[in-house]
Amino acid sequence: MSLPNVLVFGGLNTCSRALVTFLVPLDGEPLVSHVRVVDKFSVEPPTTYIGAEFPKLLKKPQVEYRQANLTVAATIASMFDPPEGQSAYDYVFDFTGEVQFERTEMIQIDRTCHVARMIGLEAAKRKVKAYVRLQHPFYETPTKGSHDEKEDIKPDGVAGTWWHETLRMLAAIEDLNLVILRIGFVYGPYTNWGKIASALTVAAVYGHMKKPMKSMWSPGKNPTHTIHTEDVAGGMWACAQWMAPLGRKAADSLAGEIILFHNDKSKVGGVDGMPPADKKLVAPMFNLVDNSDSTLLSVGQTATSFFGTSFEFFNLVENTVLKLKSDVVEEINEHHVGGWTEMITTSNPPIPNTPLSAYLDQYALQKHIVAFNNSKMLEVTGYKLKKPQFDHETLKEVVEKWKEEGSWPIVNA
Ligand SMILES: *[C@@H]1O[C@H](CO)[C@@H](O)[C@H](O)[C@H]1NC(C)=O
Repeated sequence: MSLPNVLVFGGLNTCSRALVTFLVPLDGEPLVSHVRVVDKFSVEPPTTYIGAEFPKLLKKPQVEYRQANLTVAATIASMFDPPEGQSAYDYVFDFTGEVQFERTEMIQIDRTCHVARMIGLEAAKRKVKAYVRLQHPFYETPTKGSHDEKEDIKPDGVAGTWWHETLRMLAAIEDLNLVILRIGFVYGPYTNWGKIASALTVAAVYGHMKKPMKSMWSPGKNPTHTIHTEDVAGGMWACAQWMAPLGRKAADSLAGEIILFHNDKSKVGGVDGMPPADKKLVAPMFNLVDNSDSTLLSVGQTATSFFGTSFEFFNLVENTVLKLKSDVVEEINEHHVGGWTEMITTSNPPIPNTPLSAYLDQYALQKHIVAFNNSKMLEVTGYKLKKPQFDHETLKEVVEKWKEEGSWPIVNA
């Protein structure tokens, strides 16, 4: 039996490298005959952080990278033509979308909605057996319990609104063999993007300063469910394999969810491909988070204890004083960035440059509550988590790999 051909769009700065690592392991049998990764970045020389391992994978005969402008439909279409001697692409993995949270609506519509829709339309035309869309946790769920795919949860901010709208646009492509994988806060080796990577770096600074790390958010449940990049990769693959023998209709009846309208009705006419507000749209969707039931407190405690310090909350008086200061964010960041710079400059061996920063942007500083229930994914697709716990061991692997490649300071205590 021949192995499938796989096309991966976007996500070079988030999760798509982990998928390639999973499909074509450095040591081990590949799961695919050929994989093409397409994104806007250059990889030689890299114009985004790609980690020490990915360049080795790019040397494998099964792996091909193409730098392309994904906002152009004709370019996307041309990426679906396989290399000579290879059969048509079987699966498409869509990691595209603007992941910088503070971008404008116009940018989100262009880079998130339109790009995914163009890829989806082309994938439907080419009759790919599975099209798996990665959805980041740009939602706000209730604090209590964990929330399944049927629950109506609120997209978070401009990014959340348009990432969610993208799901409706894709769902509206009837003959697209679409599966949506909705994940928690991602972390993993060679992943410098996201809240968890920022939290780790900042926790290291407090460990270095031998001071407790303090949160501006009062103690409480504050769920922030997590997921390891290896499970994002494994989960995307499991979704594709689940979909391929079924096709969209059967998949909808087994795992379809109504994707509710969460936008401004006045936008409908003005955005290409945006389905009417009252159109009932259904697509197979699965949540994927680990089993840690991570919260702000548990993530903070795991990270700080890893670096030999503790996680605490400001008391009421401290908090009131903090909130009265207008430049509090800048002050906090100066403190973190200064500490991190000191660590980098005193590291032995030296760190000439690092993709990691202790600067917390607005998104990282805001409170985000996401609690997803993963049982449907585990039951329906039979997927087994590889990294079910966010703990000392999983963090250790992440930090060790950064140390090995020279991105993480080695400081004598
Ligand atoms: C990508 O293509 C769009 C549409 O033609 C263009 O506006 C944009 O500048 C291009 N981006 C790059 C980086 O070339």
